[in-house]
Amino acid sequence: MEAKLKQLQSIAKEEILSANSSEDLERVRVKYLGKKGELTEVLRGMGALSSEERPLIGKIANEVRAAIEDHLQQARTTIKNKELELKLESEAIDVTMPGKKVPLGKKHPLIQGMDELKEIFISMGFRVAEGPEVETVYYNFDALNAAPNHPSRDMSDTFYINDDVILRTQTSPVQVRVMEKIKPPIRIISPGRCFRNDTPDATHSPMFHQLEGLVVDKGITLADLKGTLEVFAKRFLGEDTKTKFRPHNFPFTEPSAEMDVTCFKCGSKGCGFCKGSGWIELLGAGMVHPNVLRNCGIDPEVYSGFAFGMGIDRLVMSKYNVDDIRLFFENDMRFLNQF
Ligand code: FA5
Repeated sequence: MEAKLKQLQSIAKEEILSANSSEDLERVRVKYLGKKGELTEVLRGMGALSSEERPLIGKIANEVRAAIEDHLQQARTTIKNKELELKLESEAIDVTMPGKKVPLGKKHPLIQGMDELKEIFISMGFRVAEGPEVETVYYNFDALNAAPNHPSRDMSDTFYINDDVILRTQTSPVQVRVMEKIKPPIRIISPGRCFRNDTPDATHSPMFHQLEGLVVDKGITLADLKGTLEVFAKRFLGEDTKTKFRPHNFPFTEPSAEMDVTCFKCGSKGCGFCKGSGWIELLGAGMVHPNVLRNCGIDPEVYSGFAFGMGIDRLVMSKYNVDDIRLFFENDMRFLNQF
């Protein structure tokens, strides 16, 4: 039995030394030391030995087990080191290989313009308010004093979802939503998308962007409106920009006006872009109509306010000499990368 144990030890050692991986090694361990392993089997047969032989053989068996475990431990360390080396080799990065270019995105020119506008108004003490793009007919028209027969409510001007719900045609409904929630003093702007059933051309898009402004407090006058918009125009378009107010009509402001600025392209001499007039229309504005204040629970005898709504797309076009609004929405990187 002693010879058998010694032979088992030397065969196990050979197998351990020729193992190439942790899995091989584990297999060898199970083969000899496992529950049904060869050494375990030998030990089981010890019952048949005489009482003199048993402690002797038991001692040898323990020595054989310890030796096999020792070989296994040494082999484990060697194999682990070898495996680590192989892993490091296979995962090595060749820093001399040419890299893959990761194209970096950036803000769309309209978002850049919107951010700049926001900064200008925030520096004047305005806060930014938000409203839904899918709006009710009530907020978009009724609450803004636009009678049911107003032309902008027509199917050919407005995208209807059903009789009561539409894609908002302007950012002005945010005025009402804000005045319903906050009582004066109010000083907010609200930039966002608007939708109109307009045929696309160089200056019209069915989806475009507006920035709404609203100020309501005691003693607000047209002079405050003019002053605020003049500061804005000079900051956004340049200090030399001059402004001009023309009378206009909006159902939700009284009096109403449109503001023109000197043409940035010809310096107000008159050119093709400004159709020879030297001026470019930029926005609609006016003093908030008493009916709108009343609709929102604000007493027009105590408070007054002004509002304005500008087309962001056209402002950015003016600033950067872009002669077709559709360029903003074609996703042509040759155009977008210029901003
Ligand atoms: C209005 O939408 C009013 N809500 C503005 C207003 C607000 C007046 C507060 C008084 C008080 P208007 O329809 O003129 O007004 O549109 C305002 C601006 O939106 C226009 O000057 C233009 O710059 C832009 N705009 C309108 N339709 C389009 C379109 N289809 N594509 C691109 N820009 C447009």
